Amino acid sequence: MSCSLRPVGHAHRARLEQLTRATGLFRAEEVATAVELLDESLQGDEDYQFLGAFDGDHLVGYACWGPTPGTTATSDLYWIVVDRERQNTGVGSQLLREVEHRLRANGRRLVVVETSSRADYGPTRGFYETRGYARTATIPGYYAPGDDLVIFTKDLTNGDLAGAAP
Ligand SMILES: CC(C)(COP(=O)(O)OP(=O)(O)OC[C@H]1O[C@@H](n2cnc3c(N)ncnc32)[C@H](O)[C@@H]1OP(=O)(O)O)[C@@H](O)C(=O)NCCC(=O)NCCS
Repeated sequence: MSCSLRPVGHAHRARLEQLTRATGLFRAEEVATAVELLDESLQGDEDYQFLGAFDGDHLVGYACWGPTPGTTATSDLYWIVVDRERQNTGVGSQLLREVEHRLRANGRRLVVVETSSRADYGPTRGFYETRGYARTATIPGYYAPGDDLVIFTKDLTNGDLAGAAP
């Protein structure tokens, strides 16, 4: 069953925090960061866009993205999170498709996603890989000893990413 996709409002702030924490993947400060970004977005900061996936009025997942500072039409996908109980039912795919659709419609060229090399992020890395994301870079030991930063990217330009040199 597909969810309805719409903005995340003040009323869903506590639920967003809870479902982010309940994934069991994120450190406390990372959960706090997700909520801070929502607050900034609700105050009108267009650097952070939120889209929620709802079952009725119940928030079951969300994505957060925004323009990457200092780039021409590159965007960061900062967060994509689905309620543990609803994972593997297509909600994440639905969110990701819609985010990419909106980015393309706004002329964005490249999506960047940062994740971790940790074993518990294996399904997350697989999720991106099967949706056309390439493992573009790794920074060894970035998060902690043995916990690398893994950067995935997706070209939204149908292969015209290199373009003409500026
Ligand atoms: C990564 C994440 C967002 C994916 O969301 P999701 O809703 O579980 O993703 P989907 O259900 O769309 O797809 C995941 C798998 O479910 C299965 N699936 C998808 N739709 C399905 C359906 N209708 N019925 C049964 N299984 C389905 C597929 O096997 C899919 O695997 P694939 O990637 O090999 O195609 C989610 O698992 C999550 O929140 N993880 C924790 C937080 C996280 O890691 N976020 C990213 C931070 S960088």
